[in-house]
Amino acid sequence: MELHDKRILLIISGGIAAYKSLDLIRRLRERGAAVRPVITRSAQEFITPLAVGALSASHVYTDLFSREDEQDVGHIRLARECDLVLVAPATASRMAKMAHGLADDLAGAVLLATDRPVLMAPAMNPKMWDAPATRRNLSTLQGDGIHVIGPKSGEMAESGEAGTGRMAEPLEIVAAVVALLSPGEKPLAGKRAIVTSGPTHEPIDPVRYIANRSSGKQGHAIAAALAKLGAEVTLVSGPVTIPDPAGVRTVHVETAKDMLLAVTSHLPADIAVMVAAVADWRVASSSGQKIKKQPGEAPPPLQLAENPDILKTVGHHENRPRFVVGFAAETQNVEENGRRKLAAKGADLIVANDVSPQTGVMGGERNRVMLIAENGIETWPDLDKAEVAERLAATIAKRLNAL
Ligand code: CTP
Repeated sequence: MELHDKRILLIISGGIAAYKSLDLIRRLRERGAAVRPVITRSAQEFITPLAVGALSASHVYTDLFSREDEQDVGHIRLARECDLVLVAPATASRMAKMAHGLADDLAGAVLLATDRPVLMAPAMNPKMWDAPATRRNLSTLQGDGIHVIGPKSGEMAESGEAGTGRMAEPLEIVAAVVALLSPGEKPLAGKRAIVTSGPTHEPIDPVRYIANRSSGKQGHAIAAALAKLGAEVTLVSGPVTIPDPAGVRTVHVETAKDMLLAVTSHLPADIAVMVAAVADWRVASSSGQKIKKQPGEAPPPLQLAENPDILKTVGHHENRPRFVVGFAAETQNVEENGRRKLAAKGADLIVANDVSPQTGVMGGERNRVMLIAENGIETWPDLDKAEVAERLAATIAKRLNAL
């Protein structure tokens, strides 16, 4: 009963994912939580107050100006008489209202009035998730300290369209609720960490670039896991399509040079975890104008120049963090190459993984890694990237605190 005695105010806003919130209520209650539901007007187009009331065994709150509810509880009490406000699903429109502090319905008023932690589980069409307005609202909300879980990529329920926008699964949302409400140990409290993640884009001309298949999933998960253990985390991310993780300061960059600058300007730090798949080469002199095809002429040769090695720079820096972790993306001789990188880059730990296409690691959800340190190696089983991140964060905390 991880949520025994916990009171969750669940705001269900109006999207097709609202049907999953019925299961979410069940899952929260199974773990001992009391769930008080607020459902918006548009959510009632998808689910009925009767179903929500039956599953939650609670009164269902729907209106800001309900004579009965306002006298009985009122939005201020609703906002305070809980341990956490959970918005699931959070539609694009709800996020926009939250970002602007609109209180024109009960959900809005509760969200504005609450002094409790707020967790939202966005769900919307991928185009809406990618829209500049939603990006802006997300970053405003994260800046306001709102916690975010999901959305995930995959096929959409209504349109079959692929992309990012599916609400996190009820059990994932429950896990995020548990994590927020049972803070647990914070072995990295007071420690500063820098994490790099994702690919870099190296311009050829204003419209073309060199890139790689990194999704940023592993690096972002590590940033979030370090933050969960109490570290103050700066994530320097190359161009990715996944959301910024909660509780982390994210700096967005494009090229290896920019990434290096962002990383070194955040030193000193206690921990550095360099996960990014930094492009080894950039185009020596990228063109300021789009390179045009010249009839009858051979394609333009691309002259490459070596990019700075960020991990190596950090590993040998005068402000070298006390614990430096690198990754080794290999397609063969994983252990041997990992060991070589440990020494060459000045790292305390190399997380080596096989990124051959058949492993599905690049861009995928799972990873199988080998930890290589001076005093030995450790092989982990095939795990979800979030789990690799949690184990790695715990390992870093243990080793750092033993130094
Ligand atoms: N790395 C970096 N800057 C670079 C290249 C790599 O910071 N310019 C970091 C990566 O973030 C990773 C580690 O170095 O932590 C190893 O990256 P990897 O691509 O496996 O190795 P490379 O150093 O690029 O060597 P190679 O391409 O020969 O395998």
